[in-house]
Amino acid sequence: MKISIIGTGYVGLVTGACLSECGMNVTCMDTEEEKIANLREGILPIHEPGLQEIVTRNFQSARLKFTTNIQETVERAEVIFITVGTPPREDGSADLKHVKTVAREIAQYINGYKVIVSKSTVPVGTAKMLSSLIREKMNRLKKGFDFDVVANPEFLGEGTSVRDFVHPSRIVIGTRSLKAQKIIKGIYESCIKEEVPFILTNFETAELIKYASNAFLATKISFINEISNLCDKMGVDICGVARAMGMDKRIGGRFLRPGLGYGGSCLPKDTRALIKMGEESRVDMRIIKSVCEVNCYQKKIMADKIERKLKGVNNKMICVLGLSFKPGTDDIRESPSIGIVKELLDRGASVKVYDPIAMESVSRQLTVHKTIKYCRDEYECAKDADAIVLATEWDCFSNLDLMRMRADMHGTYFFDFRNVYDPKKVIAAGFYYVGVGRSNIGEEIESARRDAVNDSK
Ligand code: UGA
Repeated sequence: MKISIIGTGYVGLVTGACLSECGMNVTCMDTEEEKIANLREGILPIHEPGLQEIVTRNFQSARLKFTTNIQETVERAEVIFITVGTPPREDGSADLKHVKTVAREIAQYINGYKVIVSKSTVPVGTAKMLSSLIREKMNRLKKGFDFDVVANPEFLGEGTSVRDFVHPSRIVIGTRSLKAQKIIKGIYESCIKEEVPFILTNFETAELIKYASNAFLATKISFINEISNLCDKMGVDICGVARAMGMDKRIGGRFLRPGLGYGGSCLPKDTRALIKMGEESRVDMRIIKSVCEVNCYQKKIMADKIERKLKGVNNKMICVLGLSFKPGTDDIRESPSIGIVKELLDRGASVKVYDPIAMESVSRQLTVHKTIKYCRDEYECAKDADAIVLATEWDCFSNLDLMRMRADMHGTYFFDFRNVYDPKKVIAAGFYYVGVGRSNIGEEIESARRDAVNDSK
């Protein structure tokens, strides 16, 4: 099976590489010449666990090719995946200009039957629009070839995308054509070695499944963050609440980790796009609007917490650990961690930062401030700081030498904004512990420690 992928970003590269790993003959195309030249040299534009090996192996065996030539990309393939970006417009709606350009190019170079798969996250109605756009342009060019469009949204999470491709929870195939449905289902069946549910449906349902899924994940996160804020005030431990909630199979335990809110290139963008879709259909998406509001507010609440505990952050030095929007990736798009860095800088703090992978992305993209110091490791970051803020739960931050850090610091606060640590361990190292939705724990242990010290006097 000859497959072409147009748009070699996260989704395109992972999909292309994984399909080639299953033995398909794949060409990944992108207009960015430097990206393609680098890929041919084995240099990937993203950090994604497991991807480097797959790309190298399949490129070397010529099952995976990289090109900037759109004509060749279209002509050679039986199946074309469109995986270009759909960036948000100012009003939150998805900008389809790249998707439309690709559709016109496909119409221009089509040379026989093709299945055209829309994999980018696109608003309801896009697959239908693509179909008409390609048909119209082909008619103008007097081309009589047959083609089918399929809406096949992806559910790959950054940092786990290779694993998510190999172990999908479901595969959604939206098309009117049984022929195209059979071809796409066949591709996935030959790749995925386990039982996986196929949702065979129409364009519109497939497109909405993607938005509704991401919006629901965002809702779970904002919900638990709101409950955690209540826990902070009421002296209740959110960890116990979330764990017990998650044991109810109707609720499920995943995406109930409180923190700084959700970030990345998907949940923030897709929730805003869903609100916009609602507006266009005259449906007020009240839940999703609140979800976005709670998410924005969460960073502010956490910055307030730091400010309150430190009695002001002006001229204080804060060490922020973790900058990517989640562990396992170097992506900092809409990263909550960057949000908290900006909040702290705006309030007059100096900030030292460290991330095991995302430092380069940050220094390349973050042009906000002169008062950020980029550090070589966690310990340099903590040196002389008034407080540590653990913002992204990278594995390497779960086993810090807390005693060493504390000894080199100026202050005593440890803000664990991903609830990574057992507060007892942090307090034993001489810190004052502040988590999310578990302030009672820090305070209880602290007062028990004070009592113990007093008793021993
Ligand atoms: C998300 C979805 O999870 C994927 O299924 C989907 O395919 C993808 O968007 C997409 O549309 O392409 P992703 O953006 O990679 O994936 O990241 P998530 O794992 O969803 O995490 C998003 C944010 O939520 C991160 O900032 C993370 O730290 C935060 N989060 C996640 C929490 O704060 N608490 C949680 O319990 C879970």
